[in-house]
Amino acid sequence: MDMTCIFLLVFLLLFLCSGSKAQMPGFLSLDCGGTENHTDSLGLLWTPDDQNTFGGTSFISTPNEARKQYTTVRYFPADDNKYCFTLQVENRTRYLVRATFLYGNFGTSDAYPKFDLSLEASYWSTIVISDENTIEIEELIFLATLPTVSVCLSNATTGQPFISTLELRQFNGSLYFTIFETQYFLSLSARINFGAESNDSVRYPDDPFDRIWEPDSVRRANYLVDVAPGTEKVSTTKPVDVSYGERPPEKVMQTAVVGRNGSLGYRLDLEGFPGFGWAFSYFAEIEDFRADETRKFKLFIPGMPAISKPTVDVEENAQGKFRLYEPGYDNLSLPFIFSFEFKKTNDSSLGPILNAVEIYKYMQINYGSKDASIMASLVSQYMQANWAHEGGDPCLPASWSWVECNSDPQPKVVSINLSGKNLTGNIPLELTKLTGLIDLQLDGNFLTGSIPDFGECIDLESIHLENNQLTGALPSTFADLPNLKELDVRNNKLSGVIPQGLIGKHISFNYEGNPNLTSRKNGLNHTIVIIISVVLGVLVALAALITYFSFAHKRNNSHQKGNVATIQQTKKLSTYFSEVATESAHRYDLSEIEDATANFQKKIGSGGFGVVYYGKLKDGKEIAVKVLTNESYQGIREFLNEVTLLSRIHHRNLVTFLGYSQQDGKNILVYEFMHNGTLKEHLRGPASLERTVNWINRLQIAEDAARGIEYLHAGCSPTIIHRDLKSSNILLDKNMNAKVADFGLSKPAVDGSHVSSIVRGTVGYLDPEYYTSQQLTEKSDIYSFGIILLELISGQEPISNERFGANFRNIIAWATSYIEGGNIQAIADPFLEDNFELQSMWKIAEIAILCVKPHGNQRPSISSVLKEIQEAIAIEQGSGATNGCMLTGNSPGSSLNLDSVALTGSERHRDASFLRVISQPGLR
Ligand SMILES: *[C@@H]1O[C@H](CO)[C@@H](O)[C@H](O)[C@H]1NC(C)=O
Ligand SMILES: *[C@@H]1O[C@H](CO)[C@@H](O)[C@H](O)[C@H]1NC(C)=O
Repeated sequence: MDMTCIFLLVFLLLFLCSGSKAQMPGFLSLDCGGTENHTDSLGLLWTPDDQNTFGGTSFISTPNEARKQYTTVRYFPADDNKYCFTLQVENRTRYLVRATFLYGNFGTSDAYPKFDLSLEASYWSTIVISDENTIEIEELIFLATLPTVSVCLSNATTGQPFISTLELRQFNGSLYFTIFETQYFLSLSARINFGAESNDSVRYPDDPFDRIWEPDSVRRANYLVDVAPGTEKVSTTKPVDVSYGERPPEKVMQTAVVGRNGSLGYRLDLEGFPGFGWAFSYFAEIEDFRADETRKFKLFIPGMPAISKPTVDVEENAQGKFRLYEPGYDNLSLPFIFSFEFKKTNDSSLGPILNAVEIYKYMQINYGSKDASIMASLVSQYMQANWAHEGGDPCLPASWSWVECNSDPQPKVVSINLSGKNLTGNIPLELTKLTGLIDLQLDGNFLTGSIPDFGECIDLESIHLENNQLTGALPSTFADLPNLKELDVRNNKLSGVIPQGLIGKHISFNYEGNPNLTSRKNGLNHTIVIIISVVLGVLVALAALITYFSFAHKRNNSHQKGNVATIQQTKKLSTYFSEVATESAHRYDLSEIEDATANFQKKIGSGGFGVVYYGKLKDGKEIAVKVLTNESYQGIREFLNEVTLLSRIHHRNLVTFLGYSQQDGKNILVYEFMHNGTLKEHLRGPASLERTVNWINRLQIAEDAARGIEYLHAGCSPTIIHRDLKSSNILLDKNMNAKVADFGLSKPAVDGSHVSSIVRGTVGYLDPEYYTSQQLTEKSDIYSFGIILLELISGQEPISNERFGANFRNIIAWATSYIEGGNIQAIADPFLEDNFELQSMWKIAEIAILCVKPHGNQRPSISSVLKEIQEAIAIEQGSGATNGCMLTGNSPGSSLNLDSVALTGSERHRDASFLRVISQPGLR
């Protein structure tokens, strides 16, 4: 298929998608109990939930609600089961999920319903209906980790569980990214549009993600109270620059409240709190005031003095009027009754302004039962049966109707009851993997084939397989189940001999109705068994004798060796100080090195303590020779110490140290030569013009480098902090494997704690916290690595006066502004064209932003970074495989010019670099 063809297809698909839906892609609006598709006045397409086979539907009416989706409900029995909606989602994408409940005149029970809502196995909320005409709304933001997500209703305490609508809204930026998102959901507590002009909420289409921004004017009971005197609404019709992404929509930012008496104070009753939350405020200067007037204020929260430190000057913070500024806290401990106040500072002439706030509570994610994946695989074979469609986790928050689980925090399945379910085929092998199983009932089906081995289910007490069409022998492992009390295999077609162990066992064992199943072996068999046993016995005895003799022999030997080792060690210790370096590192003769480098002719790099030359040893081995400047070391001893340290560090992602030379006042370090030069050259040097380092290659380079750093941080004792990570210190070998260079000239951390020393590093990569405090930790390397990740995404250098436009001088501020705005394409290296998966790049962008946080304790460990990189690789590779349309590039074999050495690159591509994955990030 040629390119034109593919583009044509893409356009066709785009056309079809946009034609069939009036709304944003990634929206799903289920009208529960509804009967037909309809589009509401906002332009949202509602579809009935008629694929759901559980529960009943009912029409309702309420005096003030005419929207069609609120004229029906779906309801469920008030029993111990859970009832789930399974929704398709795009894996690894953030969503808003919203469930709403309008009771109306539904139901005849005296008590209003109360029941639980959960997302997969995690508790979400308890729905308590207290008013028939008010819509209860629950919202959650989550990161999809599977291709589906289920929303379940369970635990009916009073009345019947019911639901009116279920909505999914897909995000495409990372405003709601938090480092906790694999452990916590964000559950909405407050989203308020201050100074709203009407009592209507702002939502779609004003908000492209259809968040509901509630006006501050509608005072629900105990929600937004205690307004300070002097609070006034202001608004503008001028455009407000909210950039893009998931920031509040312009309409929300065009209204605000200001505190004319110098303060703005509110009390919020926060549903679900106390707890830890995500709280952000949104400001835009929308009032006209004189140039000599100023507006500066601070936030005050009782009991939290630290919060009051930063001063807000909206105009300055947002870099202009009518622009958004969004300070907030991604982990704040909040009470149920939350009072806050913005107060003007003494030098400010105007009182504070506030346009909007959003507060979410962190809800712990429960990853569900241990057996969830086994059970998912089991039910996937019976998709035509109703019982296979109960959805969600098999155990949590309530178990499937035919399953029982134990009460562990991560429960296991203990009982399966599939009696009389018309099962055909073999007994599913999944059942033998449920290691906590106690009770298994498969009787009264049409099961065929032989009985599998349940030997791993050692807790099994009761097995019912009667009234099926099972064939073959009874597995002997039944006899080994220590807790078995009941085994029923009546009326099958089993054959052979019943295992001896089962007969003697004190269990209830029924096997009638299997004409070919016999209870004893004949005499001949017995004789054979006895003979075999005798022969075996003799063999075992012989083997034991042989083993004994050879072992005794060995023991004598090792005893002698032990003595020798001790003597050598003693010698080593006595001469340790004089031989310190030569013990482990190879010492080269200076003349050998002069020959190899043809008297230091080819310079291939400099910096980091010295100049590097290319060399070739007599045996043909290519080397990189680093001649240290004399100021680098105070004395011979220090140099030798470093050499000893270096020679102990071996890792496939660290450039190999081959040896040293110290002669005629020259301190020289010899390393393996890396054919493909530095990462920097491939991103911005002449090599970059060949565009050979595509996104998957960049991810692999990042992975390699992270592994090398992980080894320095975690695998070496004492820990080694690199102190000078940068793209020119990441070298690439013949096969484009990346290795970290220039390590070990760094000081090891003392006791793993802070090391204070003269600041070393490179402008643009240098951790500002280290620079100001002079306290060195591993987190300084993380900062530098974050910059490298941003370079991999953008191809840009860390600092530039021109490249980042008028507003920015460094890569962090520039990249952050786009990443937070949800526009990653704007910073993606143009060389990458569109050949990358958006989600994969997002992952790297998000982790990079964490790496460059101002304080070390906010930055992740290298192991977490490595994990994210590997996930990004999985996404990138996964997408390639499912897309099924790969094209081969045609770059191997061409030659590569490095900065200063002219070398001919040989096979320098990984297999994957030949593959150009055609993906259309926009088409999602
Ligand atoms: C928030 O901070 C607290 C205390 O510092 C910590 O225990 C908690 O794990 C953090 N994250 C969340 C999501 O609660
Ligand atoms: C099994 O099949 C019979 C006959 O088709 C049907 O009447 C019965 O409802 C089925 N049972 C189940 C549990 O599906």
